[in-house]
Amino acid sequence: MSQPVLSVRDLHVEFVTRRGVLKAIDGISFDIAKGEVLGVVGESGAGKSVTGSAVVGLIDPPGRIAGGEVILSGMRIDNLPPEELRRVRGKRIGMIFQDPLTSLNPLYRVSEQLVETIRTHTNLSSSAARKRAIDLLAEVGIPAPDRRIDSYPHEFSGGMRQRVVIALALCAEPELIIADEPTTALDVSVQAQIITLLKRLGRDHGTAIMLVTHDMGVIAETADRVAVMYAGRIAEIGPVRDVVQNPLHPYAKGLMGAIPSLEVETDRLVQIPGSMPRLSAIPTGCAFNPRCPFAFDRCRVERPEPIQRDLHRVACHLYDETTIRAEALA
Ligand SMILES: Nc1ncnc2c1ncn2[C@@H]1O[C@H](COP(=O)(O)OP(=O)(O)O)[C@@H](O)[C@H]1O
Ligand code: SF4
Ligand SMILES: [Mg+2]
Repeated sequence: MSQPVLSVRDLHVEFVTRRGVLKAIDGISFDIAKGEVLGVVGESGAGKSVTGSAVVGLIDPPGRIAGGEVILSGMRIDNLPPEELRRVRGKRIGMIFQDPLTSLNPLYRVSEQLVETIRTHTNLSSSAARKRAIDLLAEVGIPAPDRRIDSYPHEFSGGMRQRVVIALALCAEPELIIADEPTTALDVSVQAQIITLLKRLGRDHGTAIMLVTHDMGVIAETADRVAVMYAGRIAEIGPVRDVVQNPLHPYAKGLMGAIPSLEVETDRLVQIPGSMPRLSAIPTGCAFNPRCPFAFDRCRVERPEPIQRDLHRVACHLYDETTIRAEALA
């Protein structure tokens, strides 16, 4: 297999608070290949956004990367000096957040923001950069881009604004795009369009995409692989079809039950009883054990490490050799 665009190795992120050190990310590892979409799912507070921020070096104090490595196309970036990291972020990693106004300056026309970004990263003249900006707006589906380019961000609808942000993220032709809940703030009718757009762009440009969402439906439609996060760890990761159709981890099984199905008439989503623990009260052993219908003694004392099971990597004692042997003997 060729070198991954993004490789995260045993990443740890901590927040130092008055009540002690909170481990928000506690040893996660994953890769994203060129042109691949990795979906990252999990309940609110699972550590999805912190993971994205850590990859781009945007963890602010009292937070800090407490261990592990972030490698972008073979180059370690988590230990770069801030100035160099800022350049990597601008050029090689694009970011798309829930609120498009995080990325756009309301005081400047879209043309100014796109042209400036393009010129920072290329040696195009301003007229060539403007032409490129119009092409990008056309590519992300802005109608009449040669006219609309001179509008201000507030003159666009939410969905169109998010398209502008995507165009902005593409200006530098990044290797990796991190999209953190990019459609959550949008009308349901435009969510699918934006997701389809992201997926197509990733494919056309060969960009690796980390797509953070709490919407399993979005993941099932878009992602090539999916990582299911729980309490700062990856519970299960694997090809999206395998994980959605045949989840192994009990938490993933619960989440997948939560995908609304078009074939079966349901009027409510399956909920997993209980809620995710706060960082200050993560249970020992498997963090999911108080909510897990399959928990046994070992789950309350020993933390499960990820194990490869066919195409899945799953962190659950049920799939450990010793458990399986014990069951075979019983
Ligand atoms: N600045 C901060 N200080 C303390 N804790 C934080 C901070 N930012 C995030 N956290 C904690 O880190 C955990 C993961 O948060 P986050 O990555 O935002 O979750 P989500 O999966 O919903 O995106 C949460 O428990 C959150 O409370
Ligand atoms: S390790 Fe135990 S508690 Fe955790 S998910 Fe597996 S069976 Fe459930
Ligand atoms: Mg988040």
